[in-house]
Amino acid sequence: MNRIAFITGATSGFGRACAHRFAEAGWSLVLTGRREERLNELREALQDRVPVHTAVLDVRDADEVKAVIDALPEAFAAVTCLVNNAGLALAPQPAQRVSLDDWHTMIDTNVSGLVNVTHALLPTLIDQGAGSSIINVGSVAADAPYPGNHVYGATKAFVRQFSYNLRCDLLGTGVRVTDIAPGLAETEFTLVRTGGDRGAHDTLYGDTTPLGAEDVAEQIFHVATLPAHVNINRLEVMPVRQAWGPFAIDRD
Ligand SMILES: NC(=O)c1ccc[n+]([C@@H]2O[C@H](COP(=O)([O-])OP(=O)(O)OC[C@H]3O[C@@H](n4cnc5c(N)ncnc54)[C@H](OP(=O)(O)O)[C@@H]3O)[C@@H](O)[C@H]2O)c1
Repeated sequence: MNRIAFITGATSGFGRACAHRFAEAGWSLVLTGRREERLNELREALQDRVPVHTAVLDVRDADEVKAVIDALPEAFAAVTCLVNNAGLALAPQPAQRVSLDDWHTMIDTNVSGLVNVTHALLPTLIDQGAGSSIINVGSVAADAPYPGNHVYGATKAFVRQFSYNLRCDLLGTGVRVTDIAPGLAETEFTLVRTGGDRGAHDTLYGDTTPLGAEDVAEQIFHVATLPAHVNINRLEVMPVRQAWGPFAIDRD
């Protein structure tokens, strides 16, 4: 079959690492994100090895998503793997102190954005049939409540359940669906979450061994290249040096 990956949020972190990993294996790539300069850099870096198409795309805009997908050049149109990776956390403060705008931005990106891209690419993926896949990037935050997780974790719980539910409807089409749920991983995630606080980034990832973007990309690539009859429903991956904590108790 064709091997064409459509990656959202390819300008940084897991998405960019996926672009490199899939390119290493010879896949054609459709790379999307909002930062055009970074898309251009990535195309420059990879296009000697594999065919690369880039498109500036804000996944929150359903019309733009559809336009980008409708305008895919013929050589990139038959997408076989969608990596729904674009996403973000904002506002690590307690729920009662965060702005409603930040909540909406997370829902618009992590939920509506992922749904927009999935809806637009479903007919293509079903046409490709057996061996094609939708890989949604969820998070351990979908299951582990923690302070400051409020809407972010809830959006990732949506990703988990949407992935499971999609599997039910896609039964018989050959299209696989996976929710990849990473734990602590060093990317630009914390800089985005804290509005550019380098100290917060260094504190969170310092003196420990977080996952790297390449670790997660390797898992995504693994899921995408399993035999066509194998579906990993959910893959939760944490660094060895991360685990869950005790319940918090309010005392007098
Ligand atoms: N790092 C972690 O610890 C961790 C753990 C679990 C899950 N995750 C999830 O992993 C995914 C990737 O995050 P990351 O850690 O790689 O963070 P990152 O380095 O900040 O990358 C996030 C990517 O999402 C893109 N993006 C954000 N908003 C977008 C929008 N409206 N439209 C299109 N693209 C958008 C960004 O590109 P542009 O800004 O160029 O648009 C960027 O390429 C996210 O879904 C995140 O929730 C991260």
